[in-house]
Amino acid sequence: MGNIFKKLGAGLLVGGVLVGIAHSQELPGTFQLLFFIVSLIGAMVFMLLDARPLSTMSGEKSLFVVIAFWILMVTVCVAGASLLPQFNPADEKEKIDKLLKSQRAASQQGKAEELIARAKALDEQVKALEERLKGLGSGQATVASLTLPAGDKPSSTAGASSGGGGDFMKVGEEQWQLQECYNCHKLRGEGGKKRGPELDNVGSLLTVEEIQQKIYDPKSFMAEGYEKEYQKGIMPNKFKDLMEPKEMQALAAWLGTFKNTSVNTPKPIKKS
Ligand code: HEC
Repeated sequence: MGNIFKKLGAGLLVGGVLVGIAHSQELPGTFQLLFFIVSLIGAMVFMLLDARPLSTMSGEKSLFVVIAFWILMVTVCVAGASLLPQFNPADEKEKIDKLLKSQRAASQQGKAEELIARAKALDEQVKALEERLKGLGSGQATVASLTLPAGDKPSSTAGASSGGGGDFMKVGEEQWQLQECYNCHKLRGEGGKKRGPELDNVGSLLTVEEIQQKIYDPKSFMAEGYEKEYQKGIMPNKFKDLMEPKEMQALAAWLGTFKNTSVNTPKPIKKS
């Protein structure tokens, strides 16, 4: 009898340890229960080993007892198993569908939110650009009120703001190349496919301020003898959008240094 309790105690202890391990591994409660039952069954098997040996049987009786024992075991197993939670594939599929549905909805929501955020960012960019354009538009007054010297020296303020007169002139020459003024204007014998006037003497005829004015707004005045081109608006009205005010100042100042009187640069004719 003491033996039975020892074995039952061992079964309970092993079952407890198994449940502890299963719990620490976050296995479902059903599995924890299953481990406990299995360890108890194990203890029962060891208890049976201690049981009094049955008297030897033979003939029909032995066959009957074996079959009866088999039926008993099968019944116990089936009954025990039916007590455990049953697995139904249809149920599981439904659960998975539910999970996926909410996840899909979440990801679609996420996409919509991302699109809205992107649209907002774009809107802000457009607004910033509009502000800048507005600034350039009102910059006309600033350009007109600029007091740049008419001579070959750039204004001291402009020169200082770009760190030295030499650099300032370099910026001007760079802009001439970058903005491709040479496509229409011949300078130093280069470029100009006869669409615009040669500019080698522009410094003698126009002030730096006027040159800047012309770049800023090509309609502000006309080069003498270029009535047709002026009317057609050949000189593009885009440089105010492409250049920083400082760059335009530099370009005008740089052009102002060209005073080659042997070149026939046309006089400016005021319009309106
Ligand atoms: C697509 C051709 C074209 C481009 C590019 C062009 N211009 Fe002109 N430009 C002209 C034409 C044509 C005239 C003469 C008609 C007029 O006054 O609008 C002119 C006139 C001028 C005048 C007046 C000259 C004078 O003697 O009165 C200046 C200064 C000038 N351009 C500077 C520039 C500068 C600087 C650039 C580059 C930022 C430039 N242009 C780009 C076609 C062009």
